[in-house]
Amino acid sequence: MTTSLPAWHTLREHANTLRGTHMRDWFDGEHGQARAERYVAQACGLTLDYAKNRITDETLALLFALATQAQVGERRDAMFAGEPVNTTERRAALHIALRAYPEDGYRALGVPVGDDVAAVLAQMERFAGAVRSGTWTGFDGRAITDVVNIGIGGSDLGPRMVCRALADPQVTGPRMHFVANVDGNDLARTLATLDAATTLVILCSKTFTTLETMANACTARDWFLHQGVTQVGLARHFVAVSTNREAVVEFGIDPANMFPFWDWVGGRFSLWSAVGLSIAVAIGFERFRQLLDGARAMDLHFAGAPPEQNLPLILGLLDVWYRSFLGTGSRCVAPYCEPLALLPAFLQQLEMESNGKSVRLDGGALDAGSAAVVWGTTGTNGQHAYFQMMHQGSQLVPVDFIATLEPVSNLPGHHTKLLANCFAQGEALLRGRTADEVRAEGVSDETLVPHLVFEGNRPSNTLLMQRLDPFHLGALLALSEHRTFVQGALWQINSFDQWGVELGKKLAAPIQRELEGAATDSAAAHDASTAALIRRAQAVCGAAAG
Ligand code: F6P
Repeated sequence: MTTSLPAWHTLREHANTLRGTHMRDWFDGEHGQARAERYVAQACGLTLDYAKNRITDETLALLFALATQAQVGERRDAMFAGEPVNTTERRAALHIALRAYPEDGYRALGVPVGDDVAAVLAQMERFAGAVRSGTWTGFDGRAITDVVNIGIGGSDLGPRMVCRALADPQVTGPRMHFVANVDGNDLARTLATLDAATTLVILCSKTFTTLETMANACTARDWFLHQGVTQVGLARHFVAVSTNREAVVEFGIDPANMFPFWDWVGGRFSLWSAVGLSIAVAIGFERFRQLLDGARAMDLHFAGAPPEQNLPLILGLLDVWYRSFLGTGSRCVAPYCEPLALLPAFLQQLEMESNGKSVRLDGGALDAGSAAVVWGTTGTNGQHAYFQMMHQGSQLVPVDFIATLEPVSNLPGHHTKLLANCFAQGEALLRGRTADEVRAEGVSDETLVPHLVFEGNRPSNTLLMQRLDPFHLGALLALSEHRTFVQGALWQINSFDQWGVELGKKLAAPIQRELEGAATDSAAAHDASTAALIRRAQAVCGAAAG
């Protein structure tokens, strides 16, 4: 197991030797210059500055040794070879094949997948083009003006985030809407703004059994009928993205209007598959292909770049360094780029659903901290909300700053202000401010001095994208996927299952029946607290029903 590897032991001891050192001292004079130049890696139009981390050359060497001893490279190769790396479900995890070219020759469990992937991409291209050009019409012949993606988790977060990131107000295309929550407010608010005759629904669900998605799908179908769309005409307003053909047909969708994908695509890794149909409709297929190309470029980088240049490897190692050796509990993601506002939520599922595990691949207990809490919002907004805690709070929170070198907005004067703030936050977290510096700035009230001191020594990465476009976003997202994979490989866990979401789903079904009036023996079936909650809700649900 990883924690018994020699490098793991040495890293534990090494972490102790770094206590009491301050990163500020590593930036003095020539050393600092060399450090700033050495701790930079670039690939696919992304530049990672990781100099502001609590690491030395020795730390890095030990981390790379850990990667070798934990066989991260071998695990990556097994994933790329389509082996059943998702051991509990006996599946490959071959999302890289979704952005590959057929000639790349990927196989899932030995079966070639390139032709299937290409066929679905061609189907998506035709459909996205038809919707965007107005040749795919609603039941009364009018062009589609609005598209609603109904899905949740991986069938929502990726497409929603990418559409937000890349939507170009100048480009004509239908308006995109995303509905995920089973809370009726989500669907009702969206539908209230729409004309059924010009609205298309993409039902997006890998399993086509997910409670939230199926409830919203049924309600949406009723709404269309209520709005005057004919039963036959519904076929112009519903398409499906799924691996479950039978359930799609049972719902009443013509298989010709189904966009398939495969069990070797995990939900949180699926935006590159037909799950990205809403992206292709929103930004056009050509730009969707550029997104895939950026991801493919990052795949090739991950597979081939040497360790000291390998972005996913470096970031995954740093994550494990902080979580398992320095004991941090969370990581903040701060995109200084408003279109990337939904990136933290996407990364939350990617990392926490993948690596929020405490059992190793071999079934033993993992005796090290796994998945950190991933959270954050855009800068500069976060600076005026929670950055106080990161500067002066009692917890160490590593930060990922993400920014674009070229401006996304063309309003004059804004981009330099944005970047200046991004860089200043990293500098302030690193450097801090000593009591003497406070006094030198003219503060003579000694009671105030401790409040104005910043400890500093707080780590951050700065990831610069050349510009926000489909290619660079694709590269950034694939980097995040592979970084997550590296974390999981180091912890020796299965990053591709999610059994932890099952129990709550299972327990919800009988509670729902009880809330809907079924005979209950809740005192026996539930703990006393849950039973009391159910009784309270029953009183109101019963009243509402009456
Ligand atoms: O409940 C978790 C989960 O299974 C995620 O892993 C998945 O992305 C999401 O639900 C949605 O699942 P589906 O695409 O099958 O509706």
